[in-house]
Amino acid sequence: MKTKILICAVIASLAGLGGSNAQTKTDPAAPHLERQGTATQLVVDGKPFMVLGAELNNSSASSLEYMKPLWPKLVAAHLNTVLATVSWELIEPQEGRFDFRGVDGLLQQARANDLHLVLLWFGSWKNGRSTYEPLWVKTDQKRFPLACSDDGKSLPILTTFSDVNRDADARAFAALMRHLREVDGRKHTVLMIQVENEVGTLGDSRDRSPAANEAFARPVPADLMDYLLQHKDTLAPELQEVWATHGGKTSGTWEEMFGPGKPASVQLYGPDLTDEKKNIYWQQLNWASDEFFMAWRYSMYVNTVAAAGKAEYNIPFYVNTWLQQPGCPRPGEYPSGGPTPQVHDIWRFGAPAIDILSPDLYIPQFGETCARYTRNGNPLFIPESPAGQLGMANAIYAFGKYNAIGFSPFGIDRFAGSDRELARTYDMLSSVSPLILANQGKGTMTAVSLDATNTTQTFRLGNYNIEAKFWVPPAWMNATNTLPEHIAALFICTGPDDYIVMGRNLAVHFASATNTNEIVGIGTDEEGMYEQGRWIPGRRLNGDEVPDGQALHFRDDKYSLQHVKLYRYQ
Ligand code: DGJ
Repeated sequence: MKTKILICAVIASLAGLGGSNAQTKTDPAAPHLERQGTATQLVVDGKPFMVLGAELNNSSASSLEYMKPLWPKLVAAHLNTVLATVSWELIEPQEGRFDFRGVDGLLQQARANDLHLVLLWFGSWKNGRSTYEPLWVKTDQKRFPLACSDDGKSLPILTTFSDVNRDADARAFAALMRHLREVDGRKHTVLMIQVENEVGTLGDSRDRSPAANEAFARPVPADLMDYLLQHKDTLAPELQEVWATHGGKTSGTWEEMFGPGKPASVQLYGPDLTDEKKNIYWQQLNWASDEFFMAWRYSMYVNTVAAAGKAEYNIPFYVNTWLQQPGCPRPGEYPSGGPTPQVHDIWRFGAPAIDILSPDLYIPQFGETCARYTRNGNPLFIPESPAGQLGMANAIYAFGKYNAIGFSPFGIDRFAGSDRELARTYDMLSSVSPLILANQGKGTMTAVSLDATNTTQTFRLGNYNIEAKFWVPPAWMNATNTLPEHIAALFICTGPDDYIVMGRNLAVHFASATNTNEIVGIGTDEEGMYEQGRWIPGRRLNGDEVPDGQALHFRDDKYSLQHVKLYRYQ
């Protein structure tokens, strides 16, 4: 028996599917995650790294010629990292024959432009569907079976209930990671890997192939139940609620434990989904048993793929999420089983080889989503978002308030270049990034997000209560100023009475948090920039620019930095 297990392990490891000796093959300076206080940081070449990223359109990285003129614009946009697709169909056009010329070219181009890469593995699934698997997979549905919907028809989605599907993907991904270790294991151009893209079943709330139906009728697996019971106190509140609502049982089928799945009579995207209902359904869990069941299957499939890759080259891996949202509120209208907040615990159980669960964050509930994605120590990495004024305010907010590892608007092909909100904001963020990184997880930094309906926020940081106010100066102060819809402001406490503040269209007042009889004055206030971590002062602000010596004003409609030293009097 023992000999048999050993032989299986050797075969699995040779095939890249087992847990081989990743660490010994990997440079210890390779990108990895490290805790700092309450934060988790990405460490590259021994130093914490903040990803100021952007994601290319899906097809861009498939052509090095297409990419050539784009690189200078990506550099001008002050990115330090580009998120780029690597697809199964291009690296394994014939079964077992790998072609890494495109990957190597991408690495060379990125290095020539002093940029890092995060590579997105488009394997079995992309936005719920299966479109990036090679033609030899697509055309052999007998060998590589598809999921089914409740009308008995196939969905254009590789089923998670096929080990053949899973292992073919895992072999290709392992080959990619082996190659990356060989060509990048010392250079670290590639920082992280996204495994698949927005996985989950789209078009039905769960797979209804015969194998899936059979598994759905069986009890929730005992090892998953054990995990949920062991983590009962820290489970996502959404999961806890569904579980408790259905009697808090410790065993039973998926529907006995978590309530009924979607009835066959309900049509997805159907006529019953009026605009009004869309909003009622949003954030309410529908057919939780279907979604939880699919989360179990997807997480375990993705884990096998990821583990095969990690065994070759161990750098941080994340999975990204198509979120439940007003336009697609029910599982199947958004990919069912992807790592939405309600199923994070199931993903943690099923996919320990995944380091980060990430939101693709296009919805207005930005702060709330960041909060849901930082529960239980999940590091925040936002691989997709809009750019522009709102996107960039969100980037500052994510780094300052939620200790984000990185931020990356989608579709950089359209808005690369220097004369953009993204370029200006990333320039400022990259200047202050050493300070942000030094303060993450230590309670010495925060950020606020403000707009015309939420104009003021008050909070304590260090020895002061701080009021941050969305503010548009009167015309005599700055005639060219235009009213932004959204801003963010970042506050870093650098000493008992010292702060670095990054803001725009902002007024800031300080009050003593330790003695209410004291009046707080602005001792000195400098504009400036950091260059390689050193403060380079610009104008010394005083007089009209620091009204009555009492407030900081950020009058410009682009972000800037001020260093203020406060003093107190009675
Ligand atoms: C989300 C996907 O993850 C991306 O690959 C891309 O298709 C965008 N949507 C398009 O908006």
